[in-house]
Amino acid sequence: MRQDHLLTTKQLSRGEIEAVLDRAAEMDADPAAVRERHADELLALCFFEPSTRTKMSFETAMKRMGGDVVDMGHVESTSVEKGESLADTVRVVEGYADAIVLRHPRKGAAKMASEYVGVPVVNAGDGAGHHPSQTLLDLYTLRENARLDGLSIGIVGDLKYGRTVHSLAHALANFDVDQHFVSPESLRLPRGVRYDLHEAGASVQEHADLSDVLPSLDALYVTRIQRERFPGEDEYRAVAGQYRIDEETLAAADDDLVVLHPLPRVDEIAPDVDRTDHARYFQQAHNGVPVRMALLDLLLEES
Ligand code: NCD
Repeated sequence: MRQDHLLTTKQLSRGEIEAVLDRAAEMDADPAAVRERHADELLALCFFEPSTRTKMSFETAMKRMGGDVVDMGHVESTSVEKGESLADTVRVVEGYADAIVLRHPRKGAAKMASEYVGVPVVNAGDGAGHHPSQTLLDLYTLRENARLDGLSIGIVGDLKYGRTVHSLAHALANFDVDQHFVSPESLRLPRGVRYDLHEAGASVQEHADLSDVLPSLDALYVTRIQRERFPGEDEYRAVAGQYRIDEETLAAADDDLVVLHPLPRVDEIAPDVDRTDHARYFQQAHNGVPVRMALLDLLLEES
């Protein structure tokens, strides 16, 4: 990868995406081969928002390659509480670590941080912006369980605030994929993302009703309504619970449909789906480790 930072999937070519996925597959096949590859290297984890999977899988990935992590910890326990700016925080942290993984509630935060430091920055979520490393593991899971070229995917839920959706949509535009976006009118894909997809010549359709497209899909990517990004509780309640997928919903789907979700889920996928062959979301979360190993390996190799 000829990239210093991973900020959005818009910056990635098809070839670069495939290079990460191929490297991840190698690591999956033989984790022992990379055990000492990044011995003595340190990854800084700076999470200004809650995280389970992203943070723990980056930590696991770095440790599996022989490296270690330094974790900023909870925001309340840091100098941010004293009024320190993000620019100052990352300039300090770059002196401690070989790369920085940053999650922040402000859109554009990772890009801004990357302008202040000389080590690679990975955007692990910037508000309602982007979440590119999640997309890489989503693509890896799709490639393993279905396909990329020739795929018909439904992306359902909070398309407005869902950063995993924005990153996934941009990345899928590099492949021969039909993208079907399903949401209430108020949570449609942002205009900027729609514009980018149009410019990229992507095949895109929008729907309000999942049943219009479900039978034709190879994959269904379900997302959580991003409660924390709504201006108020009333706006959230007006749309919450509109697309709940359960075993009965999936009766109309192809037998081979794979259901993905970046997790955490709240109630948008009923637990009865977990026992079906459609459910691939836990495997998807596990794929975070080989994919983030591959990503870090490539970024640290270049830096
Ligand atoms: C996502 C996120 O943080 O954007 N979680 C994740 O990283 N797997 C999705 C979400 O919070 O709904």
